[in-house]
Amino acid sequence: MTILVTGGAGYIGSHICVSLLLQGHSVVIIDNFSNSYAEVIERIAAITGKKPVLAKGDIRDRTFLKSVLETYKCSAVIHLAGLKAVGESAHRPLDYYDCNVYGSLCLLQAMQAANVKKFIFSSTATVYGVPQYLPYDEKHPLAPENVYGRSKLMVETIMADLYAADPGWSFSILRYFNPVGAHESGLIGEDPRGHPNNLMPIIAQVAGGRREKLTIWGNDYPTADGTGRRDYIHVADLAEGHVAALAHLEKAGLNIYNLGCGRPYSVFDVIHTFEHISNRPINYDIGPRRAGDIAEFYANAAAAKDKLGWEAKRDLRSMCADMWNFQVKNPQGYQG
Ligand code: NAD
Ligand code: UD1
Repeated sequence: MTILVTGGAGYIGSHICVSLLLQGHSVVIIDNFSNSYAEVIERIAAITGKKPVLAKGDIRDRTFLKSVLETYKCSAVIHLAGLKAVGESAHRPLDYYDCNVYGSLCLLQAMQAANVKKFIFSSTATVYGVPQYLPYDEKHPLAPENVYGRSKLMVETIMADLYAADPGWSFSILRYFNPVGAHESGLIGEDPRGHPNNLMPIIAQVAGGRREKLTIWGNDYPTADGTGRRDYIHVADLAEGHVAALAHLEKAGLNIYNLGCGRPYSVFDVIHTFEHISNRPINYDIGPRRAGDIAEFYANAAAAKDKLGWEAKRDLRSMCADMWNFQVKNPQGYQG
């Protein structure tokens, strides 16, 4: 099948493209490179021996989208393009709703016009909000606490309404937990433009000497070591989850799956594992709690296992080792 991957040059998208190409699919990437680099396309080709088609452009351009869908006869769309920084979303709500909600709407309209009705959407565990119980399952109430999470929930709602109106659609909503790590080759990984906010890329940069220290946002949470605990998932496992969801899209329906490992690790767990793997000390200090942070959350990923036959296989050591390998091979990121 030919799969359109929006945001395919980004961190998660590039790993999905690799998995798809290795499974024998053809891949068309739409990306505007607002948070990625064209070099990624060459790296995907180096890993797989197959070059994805690149259609540079913006998901808010319906005419462009329809023309790409028709020109390359795409059978399904995996939609990752969007803005993803929670803190930034509070300051730029219109940009977030424009890119994430309006962009997704344009994409669904273009798909409808081109009669392509298989769609996988990148959502997030952030849609659940403050845990009412743990682990979160897909039936947990949805109450996102920030603009980013609300923009994702709005798209989920649009999909549900569209499916109610036309059950010919095949929809898969994938709620990611905390994606980390890199491809085992060290050729592709996470290299956001500007300063990263997430824990693992900061730790990798500290270990690599690109950044002086990590500030731990709070050590007074009601967890064993006082730091926040998260369900980190290797990006390669996440990518394989998309391939599994794609196979399942053969049947019409609207399905929602948590993609996580189902067990949480603390900030200190990650620091100590990374130190062990990299043989470098991670300098840190303790700061105040970060606004909007939650003590702990993790996934019940049983639905993905039962229905998609998928479960995460790679452990925290493998996540840190592959993250470190990418950092060592690309000390200044893709532009180095
Ligand atoms: P990323 O920023 O690396 O990738 C997104 C890609 O989309 C980038 O290559 C960017 O250039 C492109 N893009 C952005 N706006 C665009 C537009 N208007 N038109 C065309 N291209 C555009 O982010 P990522 O970490 O790979 O995340 C991918 C998706 O997964 C996002 O939708 C994000 O919200 C979701 N997600 C990410 C995480 C995470 O921790 N990384 C967690 C949960 C969900
Ligand atoms: C954040 C986003 C979430 C997104 C997820 C994965 C917020 C509030 N939530 O979640 O929407 O889906 O990333 O991309 O931003 N930490 C530090 N110091 C740092 C960075 C992080 O101590 O410099 C701690 C945090 O307090 C947290 C843990 O590390 O306990 C993980 O943080 P992070 O990687 O930012 O992910 P989340 O907060 O889970």
